[in-house]
Amino acid sequence: MTQAIRAEGLVKKYGDVTALDGIDLAVPEGTVLGLLGPNGAGKTTAVRIFATLLRADAGFAEVGGIDVRKHPDQVRRIIGLTGQYAGVDEYLTGRENLKMVGSLYHLRPEAVKKRASELLERFDLVDAADRPLNTYSGGMRRRLDLAASLVARPSIIFLDEPTTGLDPRSRLELWSVIEELVRDGATVLLTTQYLDEADQLANNIVVIDHGRVIAEGSADELKDQVGGDRVEIVVQDVAQLGAAQEALALLASGAATSDSDRRSVTVPVSGGTGTMLDALRSLDAAGVKLEDIALRRPTLDDVFLSLTGHAAEDEGATSSPSSPSKSRRKGNA
Ligand SMILES: Nc1ncnc2c1ncn2[C@@H]1O[C@H](COP(=O)(O)OP(=O)(O)O)[C@@H](O)[C@H]1O
Ligand SMILES: [Mg+2]
Repeated sequence: MTQAIRAEGLVKKYGDVTALDGIDLAVPEGTVLGLLGPNGAGKTTAVRIFATLLRADAGFAEVGGIDVRKHPDQVRRIIGLTGQYAGVDEYLTGRENLKMVGSLYHLRPEAVKKRASELLERFDLVDAADRPLNTYSGGMRRRLDLAASLVARPSIIFLDEPTTGLDPRSRLELWSVIEELVRDGATVLLTTQYLDEADQLANNIVVIDHGRVIAEGSADELKDQVGGDRVEIVVQDVAQLGAAQEALALLASGAATSDSDRRSVTVPVSGGTGTMLDALRSLDAAGVKLEDIALRRPTLDDVFLSLTGHAAEDEGATSSPSSPSKSRRKGNA
C-alpha cells in the first residue's frame, strides 16, 4: 500500500520543551488518520512539520513521496492545510477569500472563479458568499477555511482540530464534509482531542501524549486493548447483588465488579449480543429482579484513560494552549 504521509523518528524541541520526542506514523493513500492527543501533546507541531511550516530537529517526514525537508515547495503544491493558521482575511467576503487563495496558487482567474462557486455550493455557503468573513458563525468560518484549503484540489489534506470550539450541529456538518472528501479519494490527517471524532472519521488512530506515540490502531483495535464488551446490570434490590454476580459469572470472560451504591454489576463478555440473552436467562433462573441491563462497548475515553491515566480532554496543569489565532474563533455559533 502506498503511504501518502510518512514520518520516522520526528523530533522537535522548542528550547527546553520537547514537543515531539520521536514520532513514527504512516497514512496509507485514501485513508484518514486521526492524530489524537490532549492539549500540548504535539499535534500541531507534527502537522506544521508535514506542511513544511516548521523544520524537525531530527527524523524524516515525507508527503506524497516527497521529502518535506528537501522539497518543501513541491510538498506545498500537493497539500491542503486548515486549522490554527490564519490563512483567511476577516474583511474579505467568502468568495473573495477563495479567489485570493486561487491567485496565490497562480491559477487562471476563470478557473478560480468556477472553483470558488463550486466550493461555496458544496460547503453550503452560497447565501453567505458575498458577505465579509467577520459576519460568519464559527461553523461557517470553519467550512470556509476548509474550502480555502481545497481550492487547488489537493489530494492530501491536513486538518488541525477542525471542530474544536464548534457547536454540535456545526461539528456534524463538518464531519459529513470530511467524509465526503475521503469518499472522493483524499488522504486526510486529522488532529483532534475528541475521541468521538476520531472514532467517527478515522480509519486509523495514533494516540500521542507528551510528543510520543502511546498507542495506535483502528478504533476497534484500541477498544479491544482495554477489553471487549461488558454487560452492565442494575438490580432492583441491593440484597440481590451477590446472586446477580454469581449468575453473571457463568458467562463472564473475566472478573466481575460490583458497585453497591449504584446497585450494579459489570462483567466483561466475549460473545457479543447473544450474551445479553444468556445473561437474562441466567439472571432470571437465579430469581434476580433487574432495573436495567446493557451491553456496553468500551469507548475511546476508556482507552485513553487506561493508557495515560488521564482523560483526553483534560488540559492538564502544565500544558498551555498554543493556538496563535484565537481571535479567529470569535463568532462561534
Ligand atoms: N512556538 C513555541 N514555542 C515554545 N513552545 C511551544 C511552541 N509551540 C508549541 N510549544 C509547546 O510544544 C508542545 C506541543 O505543542 P503543540 O504541538 O501545539 O501541541 P497540540 O497541538 O497537541 O496542543 C507544548 O508543550 C507547547 O506548549
Ligand atoms: Mg494544536
